[in-house]
Amino acid sequence: MIETITIVSGHGKDGTPEAVDQLELRMGDVVSIVGPTGSGKTTLINDIELFADGTTPTGRRVLINGAAPPDEYRENPANHPIALITQHTTFLSDLPVGEFLATHARIRSKTERDVEALLEETLEFANQLTGEPIQTEMRMTELSGGQTRALLIADATIICDTPIVLLDEVENAGIHRTRALELLRRRRKIFIFVTHDPRIALLSDYRIVMRGGKIADVLYTDAAERAYAHEVSKLDDALCILRDKIRHGERLTGHLLEVFACN
Ligand SMILES: Nc1ncnc2c1ncn2[C@@H]1O[C@H](COP(=O)(O)OP(=O)(O)OP(=O)(O)O)[C@@H](O)[C@H]1O
Ligand SMILES: [Mg+2]
Repeated sequence: MIETITIVSGHGKDGTPEAVDQLELRMGDVVSIVGPTGSGKTTLINDIELFADGTTPTGRRVLINGAAPPDEYRENPANHPIALITQHTTFLSDLPVGEFLATHARIRSKTERDVEALLEETLEFANQLTGEPIQTEMRMTELSGGQTRALLIADATIICDTPIVLLDEVENAGIHRTRALELLRRRRKIFIFVTHDPRIALLSDYRIVMRGGKIADVLYTDAAERAYAHEVSKLDDALCILRDKIRHGERLTGHLLEVFACN
């Protein structure tokens, strides 16, 4: 059973050490990684996914339960405890959604009945995250950005069911983020989001701040920020309404503040 991942720090692009000697992530933690473009966010999650052992460009090491990860993680992909959802998702497969999920579920489960149950649960989960429902007969390549993200998150959480899930950049994907975090928090996993989204950052337990390729700070969400989170969500909902109106070819009428007031 995985209880902790430890990032034993390395160095930034200029060779200077990171701000913390090591960072321990515990089961149940929801973590954000923030930082400007090129600051090393993707590199950090790649280090985690690879179980870096000091030989990547950052010099970091990643430990599981305080020790070097067991070889079985590397030897058998089915035992790998991390699901990574990358920044760029293009599908080579043109399979219908149902077949894609079923193929994946068969690798993980023993009976056909398990496969069907997993498939159903995964689709239901995904459809709680996206405004535009996904159907089993849709082709993978036909899905919108939001639907793709929702499906991949559901697949990682339910079919892969790995104890650690890494997500590189979820914000622009048109998924219900507050809902997603609520649902994810019900599962005992470590979720790590690369994000610039204040909504996700403030709903996280803490955020890792990247600068120049290194961990520059670790900020725990405090009571003042938690209070902010509610206001930020209202603001963000209002912006979503405006975005939807624009998308549907409507004009923005009335006073802007009314949009905010109706939230
Ligand atoms: N500690 C480091 N030492 C050396 N090179 C690094 C280090 N960290 C990151 N890099 C390199 O810097 C470049 C940018 O890093 P990365 O892609 O991780 O940034 P990012 O924060 O994910 O950017 P974006 O917001 O554009 O996705 C990459 O080429 C990466 O290999
Ligand atoms: Mg990146």
